Amino acid sequence: MTDVWSDRAEMYRTSEAHSEGPDLDLIVEWATGARTALDVATGGGHVAHRRRAAGLEVVTCDPAPGMKPDAICFAEDLPFAEESFDLVVTRVAAHHYEDVAKAVAEMARVAASAVLIVDNGFMGDDVEAAEKLRDPSHVRNYSEAEWRSFAQAAGLEVEDVQFFEKPIEFQPWLDRCGCVEDDAVSVRELLGDRVVGDHVVLDRIALRAVPV
Ligand SMILES: C[S@@+](CC[C@H](N)C(=O)[O-])C[C@H]1O[C@@H](n2cnc3c(N)ncnc32)[C@H](O)[C@@H]1O
Repeated sequence: MTDVWSDRAEMYRTSEAHSEGPDLDLIVEWATGARTALDVATGGGHVAHRRRAAGLEVVTCDPAPGMKPDAICFAEDLPFAEESFDLVVTRVAAHHYEDVAKAVAEMARVAASAVLIVDNGFMGDDVEAAEKLRDPSHVRNYSEAEWRSFAQAAGLEVEDVQFFEKPIEFQPWLDRCGCVEDDAVSVRELLGDRVVGDHVVLDRIALRAVPV
């Protein structure tokens, strides 16, 4: 899995879909008052880049060496002490985690003041099937209720939840995962009216949770 992500690294670094969006602006807004942050599953490093520009000290981690993180590790097993960072954030990555509840517990453990989670929301079984066909490393998108229960189990209270529509250029979205031919046709069918012109429009959820 990590080799797959290392091979994709350059595409994620240059991806417009990942380097911009109101969810990134919100992550910066939610960092107000914080001094240090951990970016879990940093990928192309867009969260870290924006937060460093906002004056925070940021450590990045990711299991894929090609993403060039500061620490190579899974979200489910973070090599940091309790309350090491003011903020811990993970953006557009949790749907790849094998054990998301464990990852949220780990993020809660190393966060002193807040955990920020941004990911695609649950959009139904057809979208789940499309996501898995496009990218076999997709595990699942979660609903607000599921996120709230992961947070509660990790000793966090959700203070704010926001929703976005995320339009993503459809062909580059397929290309990033090497999804072609019959699979690409099936993905298009499964997405139905979520494909609008040359974009796919996904639901995105952002949560700010604090230790109870
Ligand atoms: C779509 S990219 C992340 C995007 C990035 N956070 C951003 O905002 O642009 C997904 C990343 O999740 C990482 N990943 C996959 N499974 C993981 C896990 N169990 N723990 C931590 N990171 C994981 C991959 O290596 C990849 O870099």
